[in-house]
Amino acid sequence: MAIILDGKKLAQKIKDNLKAQTIRLTEKGKTPGLAVIIVGNNSASRIYVNSKKRACAEIGIYSEEYALPEDTSEKELLELIEKLNKNSDIDGILVQLPLPGHIDEKAVINAISPGKDVDAFHPVNVGKIMIGDYDFLPCTPAGVIELINESGIDLEGKECVVIGRSNIVGKPMSMLLLHKNATVTICHSKTVNLAETVRRADVVVAAVGRAQLINGDMIKEGAVVIDVGMNRLEDNTLAGDVHFESCAKKAYAITPVPGGVGPMTIAMLMKNTVKSASLACSRGGVE
Ligand code: GUN
Repeated sequence: MAIILDGKKLAQKIKDNLKAQTIRLTEKGKTPGLAVIIVGNNSASRIYVNSKKRACAEIGIYSEEYALPEDTSEKELLELIEKLNKNSDIDGILVQLPLPGHIDEKAVINAISPGKDVDAFHPVNVGKIMIGDYDFLPCTPAGVIELINESGIDLEGKECVVIGRSNIVGKPMSMLLLHKNATVTICHSKTVNLAETVRRADVVVAAVGRAQLINGDMIKEGAVVIDVGMNRLEDNTLAGDVHFESCAKKAYAITPVPGGVGPMTIAMLMKNTVKSASLACSRGGVE
């Protein structure tokens, strides 16, 4: 049976550390601040936003929530972001995605000041990640790297297969693995032989949004299997992109869903917010 990589436990350790840093920053007059914007009534988004607010409260990060109605115009949203960009109490701005169809997601991401872009979605931050010179790492991929570190395996020279090529996870994930000197393959919906490619992997990161797509037959004996997926099955239970039972029989280490990558994403968001506040503090932006 594989080692279970406990994201909840590791996230707690990281949050405890951030709490101590937050106390130190607060003593210097710079309490980290996060603004979270949610537009409309997406129930999954509501759950994520609540978890983010809870994590802020736990650590001592000041948070503001803007829950805007579904019919909010793009202009109104951009004006709010502009106000938050100028607000020195706010170190991080997060606009929960997806946005309603009438709002241009790209325009919204571009409007966030790169220095407050704690999701690391702004093109400036994406470019910085590409060249390995960054302030903020994207939260989910950074959480995955921490979990892989926890498994004790060294990524250098390893065959890593990422399934999924989203801007939020798949693409930045591949880049972070590359920075660790792994050999990286990205699979997607047009990949000709997914099973054969995944079978080569020492490390599998599944981030495709299809319940239990990756099964034990596709896993090399001794692989590390990281499941970024969070899907609802017909009976309303949660399932990852990985079929846990069959993969756990072959893997050296595996993440559960829930309790694997999810809590790590939130811990990494908190880490970016504290880092942003810390950078603001060293710039002397404290009154
Ligand atoms: N929607 C799903 N994941 C994320 C995330 O990491 N950040 C934001 N802003 N929206 C999301």
